[in-house]
Amino acid sequence: MKYLLALAILFVVIPCFSQNATTAIIPEPVSIVQKQGVFTLQDNISISIPDNHNDAAKVANYLSHAIAASTGYKSSIKNNGNTGHIHFIIAATPDKELGDEGYNLVVSPETVTLTANTAAGLFYGVQTFLQLLPKEITSKSVIKDVTWMAPCVEIRDYPRFGWRGLMFDVSRHFFTKEEVKEFIDDMAKYKFNLLHMHLTDDQGWRIEIKSLPKLTSTGAWNVKKTGTFNTFSAPEPDEPRNYGGFYTHEDIKEIIQYAKDQFINILPEVDIPGHSLAAIASYPELSCTPRADKYKVNSGEPFMVWPPGGHFYGLVDNTLCPANEKVYEFLDKVFTEVAQLFPFEYIHMGGDETARNFWEKSAAIKTLMKKEKLKNLDEVQSYFVKRVEKIIESKGKKMIGWDEILQGGLAPNAAVMSWRGIKGGIEAAKQKHEVVMSPTTFAYLDYMQGDAATEPPVYATLRLSKAYEFEPVPEGVDPVYIKGGQANLWTEQVYNMRHLQYMLWPRAFAIAESVWSPKAKKNWNNFVARVEKQFERFDIAEIKYSPAIYDPIITVKKDEKNLPVVEMNTEASGLAIFYSFDNSFPDKFYPKYTQPVSVPKDAATMKVITYRDGKPIGRMMAIPVSQLKKKAGVK
Ligand code: ACM
Repeated sequence: MKYLLALAILFVVIPCFSQNATTAIIPEPVSIVQKQGVFTLQDNISISIPDNHNDAAKVANYLSHAIAASTGYKSSIKNNGNTGHIHFIIAATPDKELGDEGYNLVVSPETVTLTANTAAGLFYGVQTFLQLLPKEITSKSVIKDVTWMAPCVEIRDYPRFGWRGLMFDVSRHFFTKEEVKEFIDDMAKYKFNLLHMHLTDDQGWRIEIKSLPKLTSTGAWNVKKTGTFNTFSAPEPDEPRNYGGFYTHEDIKEIIQYAKDQFINILPEVDIPGHSLAAIASYPELSCTPRADKYKVNSGEPFMVWPPGGHFYGLVDNTLCPANEKVYEFLDKVFTEVAQLFPFEYIHMGGDETARNFWEKSAAIKTLMKKEKLKNLDEVQSYFVKRVEKIIESKGKKMIGWDEILQGGLAPNAAVMSWRGIKGGIEAAKQKHEVVMSPTTFAYLDYMQGDAATEPPVYATLRLSKAYEFEPVPEGVDPVYIKGGQANLWTEQVYNMRHLQYMLWPRAFAIAESVWSPKAKKNWNNFVARVEKQFERFDIAEIKYSPAIYDPIITVKKDEKNLPVVEMNTEASGLAIFYSFDNSFPDKFYPKYTQPVSVPKDAATMKVITYRDGKPIGRMMAIPVSQLKKKAGVK
């Protein structure tokens, strides 16, 4: 009888639950309790906010616009209303655990109640609420015939780290103000709060400095090339230098305000003393080897050499000269304007990958070394960084740099962004300096995300599953020094916004979850299922993403006859892999992969495709057998 009763309850309850769409929120909240029933959005709902709370009003406006865009529904915002369908509350006594960015979200059949200590918390609660609504809510135009239901839930949520960043390289390729705003819109949805703008590099200086006009009249422009960056032919002297662009002060202010409205700070980076060819092309006297006619903003032709396992060096001197006082006067001007424009407490001075082969030969550097008792070029570099820190601090800002600033001794108060793995971060934290983790191992979004056979070529690979392993706090390190983490999107090989999106997503989901969600809640299988739900939303929003999780991961070994044996699996689950070696395109009627496959002796190409539920889902991959042999180490 008891069993019958239990069964009866099950049958009553299950339809209720199945009516509730399961949640698939990224980043995973701290806690979700699923309740019975649904809240249904209607036309003319009200959003109530605390009296005269400007920032809460902005968040309500954001929600109202997000709802209107896809549903066509209007909503009214009520000051000090207690009766809204959607009710924003700023806690009278702060809930300590929620902190500056956390929220409580209660969705019941009649009302949605969102409580936070701050407007930022309300904003993140809104992001979660939007993810509870049907995928069509992401549409940029009105969709009819959708019942706009959100499952009833109680969510309590707050971030693990206060620094949740994405770095956007707008130097290698220029992205317009509107494109930067699009980037901001997308990152905000996944609760990132820090946009690191890489504003200067060898390929372009992107920020107007009024006191140094050549930085943008000369430094922002190169020659348009198409193909594979770093393999381009050198531009002819008469080729027009009209590719690029820069942000005026007004543009920068507009971007900062736009980001602020979505609770995102902007960290400006001026990358020095290396990566400075755009500055040198504008003001050649800043180099240790001033040859005015020689310096041009790089257009993607090779100009640095990276010998395998050896030290890199420059073919042209793309560095600012630490032995030249004019350089510090120049930097004082630059950082004066940067500090005035950007309200964020840090300025990033780069400091990475400084080729020092020209310093080695410079008489001025030798004199500096003698005068300052600098024993080697690491110490010369450190001397430079310490002087830069003084300049940045004189503008009321703190300095952060890539982990090379550890070389030759860290500047007294510098924060370190650890990119060459996590070791620089560990070292800096041990020296009691603040650290942001952004290691190539887990967080480099310019790397390929699948097999080189399908991905646009880049020199390294970072799959989604690896990005999901990102853990900002290394073992044995005092977490107090780890401010958080970020992913970096360099754009040497990224020429447009669609490809930018492709490189960002889904890996930025993995990073978002690594910096927001409790470590104990991270779970790959659960994550990848939620990623697939986000893909459906992106399809509607028309945001591009990489489908690499559906493509086979191909590993090749060699058998006793020295022939390659192919092993395949996938990051997404429930896929069937079909293959051919006869040059034709495999489909679901072809051999299905079940165990390692020996490559037929005379085969030229392996072709592979994945299916799910009888439909193709992966991309057709074609890999020459010569490459399989190379992977296996078969001669
Ligand atoms: C870097 O990737 N060079 C910081």
